[in-house]
Amino acid sequence: MTARQLRLGTMLHGASGNMSAWRHPAAQADASISFDYARRIARKAEAGKLDFLFVADGLYINEKSIPHFLNRFEPLTLLSALAGVTTHLGLVGTVSTSYSEPFTVARQFASLDHLSGGRAGWNVVTSPLEGSAKNFSRQQHPEHALRYRIADEYLQVVKGLWDSWEGDAFVRDKASGQFFDASKLHTLNHHGDFFQVQGPLNIARTPQGRPVIFQAGASEDGRRLAARHADAIFTHQATREEAQAFYQDVKQQLVANGRAPGDLHIFQGVSVIVGEDAAEVEHQYQTTAALVSIEDALNYLGRFFDHHDFSQYPLDAPFPDIGDIGQNSFRSTTDEIKRKAREHGHTLRQAALEAATPRPLFHGTPAQVADGLQHWFESEATDGFIIQGGTPDTFERFVDQVIPILQARGLTRTAYPGNTLRASFGLQEPRNQFTQQ
Ligand SMILES: Cc1cc2nc3c(=O)[nH]c(=O)nc-3n(C[C@H](O)[C@H](O)[C@H](O)COP(=O)(O)O)c2cc1C
Repeated sequence: MTARQLRLGTMLHGASGNMSAWRHPAAQADASISFDYARRIARKAEAGKLDFLFVADGLYINEKSIPHFLNRFEPLTLLSALAGVTTHLGLVGTVSTSYSEPFTVARQFASLDHLSGGRAGWNVVTSPLEGSAKNFSRQQHPEHALRYRIADEYLQVVKGLWDSWEGDAFVRDKASGQFFDASKLHTLNHHGDFFQVQGPLNIARTPQGRPVIFQAGASEDGRRLAARHADAIFTHQATREEAQAFYQDVKQQLVANGRAPGDLHIFQGVSVIVGEDAAEVEHQYQTTAALVSIEDALNYLGRFFDHHDFSQYPLDAPFPDIGDIGQNSFRSTTDEIKRKAREHGHTLRQAALEAATPRPLFHGTPAQVADGLQHWFESEATDGFIIQGGTPDTFERFVDQVIPILQARGLTRTAYPGNTLRASFGLQEPRNQFTQQ
């Protein structure tokens, strides 16, 4: 085994490939709401000794949302059910800091960590979709910078609540009648700009000390939040060079925050197609891409820009100038889409299809896919990948054909090192902030 190990997760996202992949002959059309499907993918991931399964989420839909978003499980409920049918796989779920309360969320993830024997991970997001406000009795979606200020204080509160109890606080001595040791109970008493939370949390310190924290969001504010609080980042860069720049920046920010570069793992979300040869891979890609109509693609593109209606512009003219629309939404993604369209001189049609049916970054024979992943990993473009199948049946092929190659090269494990996600990640259990003082 090499000293640095390639980390792998997979994303559970309905029928995998693109927004219309549910129509693919190999797809289970109701995958996004099927527990049988989720269990099958989770067990497959565990067979491949992957670190974790990742569930994304959103809080607003309309009739233009992609099919998977219209009908899907709430992440923590799904992961709690998966905890019972898996043994070692990390279970990472997305919950927004803009539309929830720290006490509730601290309690839910602590519960998942206990239920799963230390496999819970929280993907902290600030919610890009402006419509979310309408589902949470709010007048306005908080602005990008404000969302990140809220998230920072939110994470301080949640971490404080997770330290409410020391690991051995509950003595449960039947003879003496002592249920807990009061000296090991800590009340947070948080008074901040956004949250007033007394504590303590009504659940014991968790098997991992605290659940693993992921952050998804690639803007400056997003990176800063991750460098302060997170154990992992979920991001996406289009090229190896951009990924290397992102990697360096985040690792430097970690050090500036008094943390070691290895304290946070960076994950690139990537799509993969595995085939027999170039022609067969191309056939797989074309078959899946052909399921997406141009109307579908315009809706897909529009969602990133606060469901902007792109059907009003000519399809074969240059990508329209839409000003700042989307700045308060998926900022890093919309900036990237606009930059790429400008650089490549794309028409609206090209930009929409490019967004909705991107060619998988890693494609080819199993050995070629393994080579690509290895190259990114060894050139410090990333610490690991969140794998998404480029077609509905890619993930099984990836585990059966690519993982054995990565294992043979000593890049990924052949057995889990422990029972928790922290153990898989090689991360220390965090110290309790109250005992540290
Ligand atoms: C790779 C990646 C995955 C994301 N996944 C989610 C998600 O599942 N749910 C969500 O509400 N937001 C998700 N986000 C959005 C972020 O939470 C954030 O609100 C938005 O991207 C704007 O922040 P940014 O400009 O820092 O990227 C994701 C962002 C990235 C870059």
